[in-house]
Amino acid sequence: MPNQIGALPCRAKILSPTPENILQAAQAIQQGEVVGMPTETVYGLAGDCRNAIAVARIFKTKERPSFDPLIVHVGLQAGSLSNLEALGLIDSSQISPIVRKRADQLIQKFWPGPLTLILPKHSEIPDLVTSGLPSIAIRMPRHPVAQALIAAAQTPLAAPSANRFGRISPTTPEAVLEELGDRMNWILDGGPSQIGIESTVIRFDPQGSIWILRQGGTPQAALEEALQLSLLTPCLEDQFDRMASPGMLESHYAPKKPLYLLPKAVGELHAEDVSKISQFLTKTPHSLPIGLLLMNGDPQPMTQRLSQLLGHPIHFENTAILSPTGDLEEAARNLFMKMRLLDTQEISLILSEPCLSTHGLGYGIADRLKRASSRSP
Ligand code: TXA
Ligand code: MG
Repeated sequence: MPNQIGALPCRAKILSPTPENILQAAQAIQQGEVVGMPTETVYGLAGDCRNAIAVARIFKTKERPSFDPLIVHVGLQAGSLSNLEALGLIDSSQISPIVRKRADQLIQKFWPGPLTLILPKHSEIPDLVTSGLPSIAIRMPRHPVAQALIAAAQTPLAAPSANRFGRISPTTPEAVLEELGDRMNWILDGGPSQIGIESTVIRFDPQGSIWILRQGGTPQAALEEALQLSLLTPCLEDQFDRMASPGMLESHYAPKKPLYLLPKAVGELHAEDVSKISQFLTKTPHSLPIGLLLMNGDPQPMTQRLSQLLGHPIHFENTAILSPTGDLEEAARNLFMKMRLLDTQEISLILSEPCLSTHGLGYGIADRLKRASSRSP
């Protein structure tokens, strides 16, 4: 077990998910502590959602601004709006019949799993959880260790991704240790996250229209098929109020190194694209080699092609690939891990292929890459 993270002393221990360790983590939660919790999407930093001190600790540990609300994670018995109301999480009197019908349909079909619903909040939930909003974000994780922890703690758990604010979400216990190990005690080991990007977040209009506030682990097409309804996406609608989803900040999921999103796949790049990339390279100091993040294909010839196009050597050992066969689920699972890996290499900056697929997890991957790149000049 490392007792040092870079220059910082490390406090946190990674616990194997034995019943004793889950109980120990649950007791810590009941005492207002925060715990690293595996989920199928990414690792979360979990605390008792009904304890304002615990919730404040989550914000402090992550250095998260208080305007960015948390997601509450519920146990397997909470699978309907009436159960969420009985748990004191939502206020059903504020929900129209059409929204009730659609929300229950989605809960039936997609819970437990990577789908977060925004619903009217119950007055007993501390305002800090929802950043003062009248709505609350809820999801039922399907990772068995998350479920065991919720059951043992006997309370729903508020849990944002377990990274420092704005940084890459962790998909392994070691990544949580690297992010927050100097400021928390326990991380439950649930293995690498199966999905690898966060849950899809949706909101309902009283008339029953549904907005996707964050693309994620449940594909838009799957939701549309289940409801036989087209969903609305804020990025396509200028009139959408950005503060309705305050966490949708431009720069997010960002590696420490500048990441430049190529306009096309490396195989499709032409001379006119190259001048733009060269401008970026001129503006961005790079005394070290360049890293490359590829979506799919054969990395060796792609690395060579880009080196030639740019007239700048890119070393094969600094290339990472999300899925050689173009499998979007594999790509999502690898995304944050590979970004983290490139971040630790001796490189100055990262060039990344965009994800242009509109299928499956394509939108979720594209969204993460766009936000990871927005700090770059
Ligand atoms: O997969 C996930 O959702 C992971 C795992 C740990 O469950 N959690 C996660 O939490 O991604 P976090 O805190 O990194 O992202 C939560 C986002 C907020 O940034 C915000 O965009 C949205 O959920 N959100 C939360 N409450 C909301 C509300 N009341 N209205 C609108 N958006 C809300
Ligand atoms: Mg996050």
